[in-house]
Formats: sequence, structure tokens, C-alpha cells
Amino acid sequence: MASIFSLASLAICSLLSGALALPSHQARALSARSQNSSVDVNVLYSFGDGTWAENLAVRANGQILLSRLDTPEVLQLDPRGIRDPITIASWNASTYMGCLGISETTPDMFYVVTSGFVNDSFVLTSGVNSIWEIDMSTFAISNTTGQVLSNATVSKLVDVRTSDFLNGMTTLSNNTILVADAYNGWVYRVNTHTGAYSVAVNDTKMKFDSIPNPPTNLGVNGIKLHDEHLYWTNTAVGTLNRVRISSNGTRVGTSEVVVDNVPKADDFIFKNDNVAFIAQNQMDELSVLYPWANEAKVIAGSNISTTLAGVSAGKFGRLPSDSHILYLTTSGAEGLPINGTVTVPATLSWIDTSRF
Ligand SMILES: *[C@@H]1O[C@H](CO)[C@@H](O)[C@H](O)[C@H]1NC(C)=O
Ligand SMILES: *[C@@H]1O[C@H](CO)[C@@H](O)[C@H](O)[C@H]1NC(C)=O
Ligand SMILES: *[C@@H]1O[C@H](CO)[C@@H](O)[C@H](O)[C@H]1NC(C)=O
Ligand SMILES: *[C@@H]1O[C@H](CO)[C@@H](O)[C@H](O)[C@H]1NC(C)=O
Ligand SMILES: *[C@@H]1O[C@H](CO)[C@@H](O)[C@H](O)[C@H]1NC(C)=O
Ligand SMILES: *[C@@H]1O[C@H](CO)[C@@H](O)[C@H](O)[C@H]1NC(C)=O
Ligand SMILES: *[C@@H]1O[C@H](CO)[C@@H](O)[C@H](O)[C@H]1NC(C)=O
Ligand SMILES: *[C@@H]1O[C@H](CO)[C@@H](O)[C@H](O)[C@H]1NC(C)=O
Ligand SMILES: *[C@@H]1O[C@H](CO)[C@@H](O)[C@H](O)[C@H]1NC(C)=O
Repeated sequence: MASIFSLASLAICSLLSGALALPSHQARALSARSQNSSVDVNVLYSFGDGTWAENLAVRANGQILLSRLDTPEVLQLDPRGIRDPITIASWNASTYMGCLGISETTPDMFYVVTSGFVNDSFVLTSGVNSIWEIDMSTFAISNTTGQVLSNATVSKLVDVRTSDFLNGMTTLSNNTILVADAYNGWVYRVNTHTGAYSVAVNDTKMKFDSIPNPPTNLGVNGIKLHDEHLYWTNTAVGTLNRVRISSNGTRVGTSEVVVDNVPKADDFIFKNDNVAFIAQNQMDELSVLYPWANEAKVIAGSNISTTLAGVSAGKFGRLPSDSHILYLTTSGAEGLPINGTVTVPATLSWIDTSRF
């Protein structure tokens, strides 16, 4: 299959975004497979100058929830690009700097990090990092006009007072999420019913200062559960790592480096068949890692190109029509301008992963 949706809806997308490239023709895709490993990047939504799309989660109905870091907001976006973004939740920008990791526990129950204010070392300097619950089951829009008929129910779960910079989030069970503290280099276990939290995994390979002269103070960043292991990126060290964990999130045994050639690795995602896609925000690159490979390979973007400027995270579609589509948030290279000066509007972009 060469296209994700009908040509009609793609045409609407390109009108809206003005930047959507049509998926490559199947024959071209086949020849591209044998000739090169790069993949076309398509823009679905483009936000304004100075924006930063940080993370995303996909609802069972296919709609995409996107968190912004430049301002504390969570938006809903349509995977066909047919509707303007809808603000699902927003917080006072004097209270929170922005939103980061977002994850679903039971159907339509989402949790998101709202961040206090950090300095350039990612040390919390004012405010507090919190986790909020977003219950999407109460949310409804008009199918014809897109008007909000009923809001999501948004409530604070907990202030994580011992944290500096909460970043990636993943779901451990129906009532437990895991949340990475990128500055402190540990992962919290948070009970989504009681708000109780504690450090579940605190590993040397999560620390930014486990190497001399780290390029940034971001250690553990993206976190995912896969094959009974907790996987994580360490941004400063440029690695993907893992340790076996028990069902309650407690580590079992020693950690290991999976690959060490993913500089500035941010969030990442596994496809059903174990292939990992790793967003390298400040390299403006997306890499693929096959389960048998001992290194990751860049498939899109470069640090002199705006194609994937500041790519921060990826999630797969959840509809039969887009389960092979990897949606990507980009931060417009706000974290590290390209060539030292170039930033672009943040986006929700996508790639077709059929051939990976
Ligand atoms: C590699 O494949 C991509 C995606 O099909 C295409 O856009 C690009 O032009 C190809 N590059 C080369 C050097 O063939
Ligand atoms: C946001 O917070 C600031 C500082 O606490 C407060 O002065 C302001 O009134 C708040 N704004 C809104 C819209 O609640
Ligand atoms: C951030 O704040 C911490 C704690 O006050 C301080 O040690 C560090 O030097 C600050 N970093 C920057 C870049 O200001
Ligand atoms: C949804 O929430 C917004 C912001 O608080 C409010 O303006 C709007 O009236 C609400 N809509 C409905 C249908 O309750
Ligand atoms: C988790 O929630 C789902 C959906 O609500 C339910 O079907 C499942 O039984 C729950 N699992 C456990 C272990 O409680
Ligand atoms: C994390 O581990 C370090 C040693 O690597 C230790 O000094 C620190 O106290 C631990 N912190 C927590 C919260 O477990
Ligand atoms: C987690 O489970 C392990 C056994 O798998 C047990 O030893 C440990 O005490 C449990 N920890 C927590 C915090 O429940
Ligand atoms: C970055 O610099 C390189 C080398 O001068 C140039 O080829 C490239 O187009 C520049 N990229 C951007 C986004 O300006
Ligand atoms: C791009 O990354 C390479 C390392 O892969 C580095 O040597 C080079 O300086 C970077 N270029 C820019 C413009 O950031």
C-alpha cells in the first residue's frame, strides 16, 4: 500500500497544511528500498513560529493528542488533517512552562506531565512538576462542524516535588504510569488512582553525567516497555538502554546498552514487530533500529536540514488505515537551531513505515 488514506482526503490535507507531500508511488518505494534507506517526511499540521511539539498519544478512535512544550497545552489533531487543532486542556503559563510526556492507561484515560520552570541546566528553578489526568471519555465534538459539545475532564493527579525535569512517560498497568526525570536520571512509578509516587528505577545508564563533559544535562528521556524490559534513551550519552523489570516496575538484574550510536536521542517507539524508531531531537534525525542490528541507521532528516527539525517523539496510528503510519512531533529545532540560527514552526509530521 502506497497511501494511508484516500487521495481525496490527502488532497484536503495538502490544502490545509500547504506542505503535505503525497506518499511515493509503490514502484518508487520498492526501488527506493533497494537503493537507499531514507523515507519521505510529510507535514500534517504546522504550528506557528516559536512553537515546540513535544510528545503525543493516539486515542483508540485514531485522533491524536499532542503536548506542547512552548506553552502548557494539549491539543487534539485529526490523523487525516481535516480539522483545525482543538485545545483539549491548557494551564496557566505563569504556573507551568509546558507539557511533556503523555500516556494512556485505561481506554481514553490519559496522563500528562506539566513542567515547572527549569534553567538551561534543566534544574527546576520555580514552580513544580505535576501530573494531570485527562479523561477523554467526556469529550465530544460535532462531526459536522467540529465544535466542542462537551469538554474532556481534566484534574490534577499529583505534584512530583522531588523531581527536576519530568520528561518521557509510559504505562505500566491500568493504574500505574512510569515517568522519567531527565535531570536526575531516574524513573518514577506513579499510582494513577492515589497519586502515590516513588523512584522505581535509578540506574547509572540513566545519568547524563555518566560520561565526561556531557553535551547536555538530559539523561533518561524516552521510556517504553517492551519484552518485559524497560527501555530508555539517554540524551547526553546518545544511547538506547534496557533492563528487565517485574510487573510492578521493579528492576530485575543489570542494565545493558542496546545501541550507542543515537546522539541526542529523545523519545522512541517500537513497531509491533520489534523495529524501533528513535527521534534524535537536536540532530534533527530519525533512526531505525532492527532487532538483530547492533547499530541504528538514520532514515530521515539531518542536522543541516529542516526536514525533521527537532524531531521529539513518534507514535503509530491506531486505525486499520494508518497502523503503519508513524506520526512524529517536531520542535522546530528550538532546542538547538540548525546551523546555529535556523528554527522553523513545530509540526505534526508522518512517515510510512511499511518498508521498514
Ligand atoms: C531516497 O528515497 C527517498 C524516499 O523515497 C527519496 O525521496 C530520495 O530522493 C532518495 N534518495 C536518493 C539519493 O535516491
Ligand atoms: C496565572 O497565574 C498568575 C500568577 O499566579 C496570576 O496572576 C494570573 O491571574 C493567572 N491567570 C489566569 C488566567 O488565571
Ligand atoms: C541552574 O540552577 C542550578 C541550581 O540553582 C545551578 O546550580 C545551575 O548553575 C543553574 N544553571 C544555569 C545554566 O543557570
Ligand atoms: C469547554 O471549556 C472551555 C474552556 O474552559 C469553555 O470555554 C467551553 O465553554 C467549554 N465547552 C463546553 C461545551 O462546556
Ligand atoms: C485493565 O483495564 C481494561 C479496560 O478497562 C480491562 O479490560 C482489564 O481487565 C484491566 N486489567 C486489569 C489487570 O485490571
Ligand atoms: C540513585 O542512585 C544513586 C547512585 O547511583 C544514589 O546516590 C541516589 O541516592 C539514588 N537516588 C534515589 C532517589 O534512589
Ligand atoms: C515488586 O515485585 C517484586 C517481586 O516481583 C517484589 O520483590 C517487590 O517487593 C515489589 N515491589 C513493590 C514496590 O511492590
Ligand atoms: C546548513 O548549512 C549547510 C552548509 O552550509 C547548508 O548546505 C544547508 O542548506 C544549511 N541548512 C539550513 C537549514 O539552512
Ligand atoms: C552535524 O553533526 C555532525 C556529527 O554527526 C557534527 O560533526 C557537525 O558539526 C554537525 N553540524 C551542525 C551544523 O550542527
